[in-house]
Amino acid sequence: MKYLPNEHRYDSMVYNRCGRSGLKLPAVSLGLWHNFGGIDDFKNARQMVLCAFDLGITHIDLANNYGPPYGSAEENFGKIMHKDLTPYRDELIISTKAGYDMWPGPYGIWGSRKYLIASLDQSLKRMGLDYVDIFYSHRFDPDTPLEETMSALDSAVKQGKALYAGISSYSAKKTKEAVKILRELGTPMLIHQPSYSMLNRWVEDKLLGTLEKEGVGCITFSPLAQGMLSDRYLNEVPSDSRAGKSGTALSKKLLTEQNLSNIKNLNSIAGKRGQSLAQMALAWNLNKSQVTSVLIGASSIEQIEQNVAALTNLDFTNDELKEIDKYALEGDINLWSTSSEAG
Ligand SMILES: NC(=O)c1ccc[n+]([C@@H]2O[C@H](COP(=O)([O-])OP(=O)(O)OC[C@H]3O[C@@H](n4cnc5c(N)ncnc54)[C@H](OP(=O)(O)O)[C@@H]3O)[C@@H](O)[C@H]2O)c1
Repeated sequence: MKYLPNEHRYDSMVYNRCGRSGLKLPAVSLGLWHNFGGIDDFKNARQMVLCAFDLGITHIDLANNYGPPYGSAEENFGKIMHKDLTPYRDELIISTKAGYDMWPGPYGIWGSRKYLIASLDQSLKRMGLDYVDIFYSHRFDPDTPLEETMSALDSAVKQGKALYAGISSYSAKKTKEAVKILRELGTPMLIHQPSYSMLNRWVEDKLLGTLEKEGVGCITFSPLAQGMLSDRYLNEVPSDSRAGKSGTALSKKLLTEQNLSNIKNLNSIAGKRGQSLAQMALAWNLNKSQVTSVLIGASSIEQIEQNVAALTNLDFTNDELKEIDKYALEGDINLWSTSSEAG
């Protein structure tokens, strides 16, 4: 059936300026890391992307290796673009990345110019796009000169294959260096994509301050700690959940008695605010002025709808923030908790 988007899609979404750039991003963005691959239900994946667009989520985040198998999330997204969203290409911000293992041999991983440019060409083909809006270096490569990785991003922009450049999971120190190199090349860094949640605070040390000072936007990934900050695991580990499936990045081992007890206490705080735990976790993340957008994952349209509804209650009292810290900082959950810079 022909897809016709919701006419009211821009009525209630919040759009935040990305650093000191001209670009605004939706406060909630959708990532296609899990549940959009070749092994997943395509019908559900398509419904989720279209539901997101109908709710004003104009930003879809991908990477070369999202799937499984690698590349299949981009292929599936390409099909959805082609079938439903081509008329709306100019209403969308589509990003992809390269940095993790993608194909065999030394040119299919890390941060060389050879890998980044070849990978972006492949991503464009898989998605059937002329350009992406944001191209990221997915992680810092300790063995490639930073100048080489940044100049590959700059080339992608100057060749018109990407409109903006970004980096992901770089430390504050390497971010500062990367910002300077890109500025000198004439391609200002648009955005940094770090992990950040109530349970994972590494960005608070120096990174957020650096981004603010340099005028770089911040889109935080895994703001729900891959689903742990939701009602998903309060009573059991459902077989269709990320922790319940094999081959995902969320290990059941993290759901210890202590962590679950903290999650239940956080859930009670959310209940007192009239929110679900997932909604409170997203609102808490957006409460940091440096955060442009929270980058969620989802396995159903109901989750996306619930998460966007978090935007109706973004304020916290100091007492609430203190109580959240009491439970969130007590556990031993250590997911993506550092930048990927070696040393
Ligand atoms: N740059 C990087 O290195 C990097 C790394 C990781 C992720 N990312 C990006 O960030 C995106 C999001 O990461 P993520 O998927 O880990 O984010 P997340 O939002 O922390 O976790 C998403 C998972 O939480 C559960 N969930 C979502 N909303 C829910 C709700 N309302 N109620 C109950 N459960 C809910 C779902 O789990 P179930 O599937 O179990 O239902 C969903 O798959 C990725 O898609 C990717 O684009 C980037």
